[in-house]
Amino acid sequence: MLALVSISALAQAPGPNLRPNAASTPRQIPASPPPMGWSSWNSFSNTIDSNIVVQQTKALVSSGLKDAGYEYINIDEGWWLGKRDANSNMIVDPHQWPALRAGETAGDMANIVRFIHSAGLKAGIYTDAGESGCSFYGPDLGPPMAHTGSEGHYEQDFLQFANWGFDYVKVDWCGGSRENLDPAVQYAAVARAIARAETITGHRLYFSICNWGNNSPWTWAPGISGVTADIWRTSGDIVAPIVANTPNGSRRATFAGVLTNFDQGIHPHAQHTGYYNDLDMMVVGMPGLSDAQNRAHMSLWAMSGAPLIVGADLRTLTESTRAILVNPDVLAVDHDSLGLQAIKVDEPQPGIQVWTKPLSTAGAHAVLLLNRTATPAPISVRWNAIGLDSTLPATVKDVWSGRELRSYSSTYTLTVPAGDATLLIVRGTDAIPMPYEAAAPTNQLAAAATPQPCNSCRSGRSVKVGGEGSLTFLVQPIHQSSFVRIRYLNPGEIPVIGQLSVDGQLPTNILFPPTGPDDDIGIITIEVEPSQSEQSSKLSFSCASPNLSFESISVLPDAH
Ligand code: GLA
Repeated sequence: MLALVSISALAQAPGPNLRPNAASTPRQIPASPPPMGWSSWNSFSNTIDSNIVVQQTKALVSSGLKDAGYEYINIDEGWWLGKRDANSNMIVDPHQWPALRAGETAGDMANIVRFIHSAGLKAGIYTDAGESGCSFYGPDLGPPMAHTGSEGHYEQDFLQFANWGFDYVKVDWCGGSRENLDPAVQYAAVARAIARAETITGHRLYFSICNWGNNSPWTWAPGISGVTADIWRTSGDIVAPIVANTPNGSRRATFAGVLTNFDQGIHPHAQHTGYYNDLDMMVVGMPGLSDAQNRAHMSLWAMSGAPLIVGADLRTLTESTRAILVNPDVLAVDHDSLGLQAIKVDEPQPGIQVWTKPLSTAGAHAVLLLNRTATPAPISVRWNAIGLDSTLPATVKDVWSGRELRSYSSTYTLTVPAGDATLLIVRGTDAIPMPYEAAAPTNQLAAAATPQPCNSCRSGRSVKVGGEGSLTFLVQPIHQSSFVRIRYLNPGEIPVIGQLSVDGQLPTNILFPPTGPDDDIGIITIEVEPSQSEQSSKLSFSCASPNLSFESISVLPDAH
């Protein structure tokens, strides 16, 4: 209490060298990371039960995956056979989900959640947005199960999941699709039911949307119904489940399938500030892929910043697969706190590709040299194509070998084997972007948007857009995929969601976490897609919450 009094006295009577309300240095606001964990579907299909979950939970810990950051144990389809009691509560089979210790009741999903939590992990569950789920319309193993969806019971079911203690819920779309429902409408209702369950229980439920890219979820899923973090599938299943000793045990994962899901998952303008494209559960370590293909698969997911949900049976991981899954440098690329997805910056001939994304450390960029052709090929990355000052040297690290290579000037070239990829970290000096000040007279302000004094802003002013205003920056024409850095202020206590529309295209929701009460500036980075505009591009920000204002934006240099 005494300390508080003296600090406030100081603030009211600053000495000659103290600026009143002087804000701290602008800071990067980390995006909440994509989820990491294991899911039952790829290796167990709808044979899932308590025993399998217990064994996989133990294996996730003993294999070292937990220590590497994998934290979710996700129970997919097959856990519920579609039965409800007279009050419409979901009923589960007590043999499939028995008591796991004295005092527990068989047929209570809280038992398995308790076990997963006792291992220091988080638990995920699954349902369908429609009336009946995939196990009715196209069961993989076993008979069709009707009424395996949550339609008509969203509030009840999501509250039930939270009450059981689940931390994550995947919501599938087989029923929704068969009933011709609108996914943007249904998933918004699901998001509201989840928010309600979170409010009632105080328990967080991470939202995983699974409608395989239908109706372009990247246009409506980020921040749907105000959620502060979520993922959405962008494609069909990477592989049909491969369950040992069953009729589907001879299926094989393919690298072609991996590449297809990667390609379909690239929507970088929607992936930022904690919202992620979901390329599907991984097939690393499943039958069909070589070690090199497992590495390339992991590299692609890391460049995408994708959710890393392992589909392999964790009890039978080989040492090389295990090492691939826990490689700390690769996981750091995936989980980089800018939360961005890579963009393709070069394809000098079909199938020879250079992908890149900036990392949160100044001057650091992840680069993937991808050779999709049938012959080995030299692939070059140019410093100016990834946003570095090409007049200065940069060092190169080969991520999988862990080797720090020497310093190179302006470009680095490597021969990449056929059907393979090389993951690099390039560290140099970022080219300096030109800032566009929010309060510049060239910008367009609408409705309640107003310039206001800002101690910590370079121009001394920011522009408040919060409360239905809008601010349109006029910037150099954006003719290629570009990263944009945003310096903003949110003095409130909770994140706000704003909208950005580029040259009149569909807006995307952007999360603006609190930056602090004293003109503190936060920095986030997003990606914008090219447009046709000739003279200048228009980046329009708006926000219904009253708290958001902008200092400036800059378009990161990138010559492609
Ligand atoms: C869909 C999903 C899969 C899995 C199955 C279960 O196909 O895309 O990830 O959940 O349903 O049937």
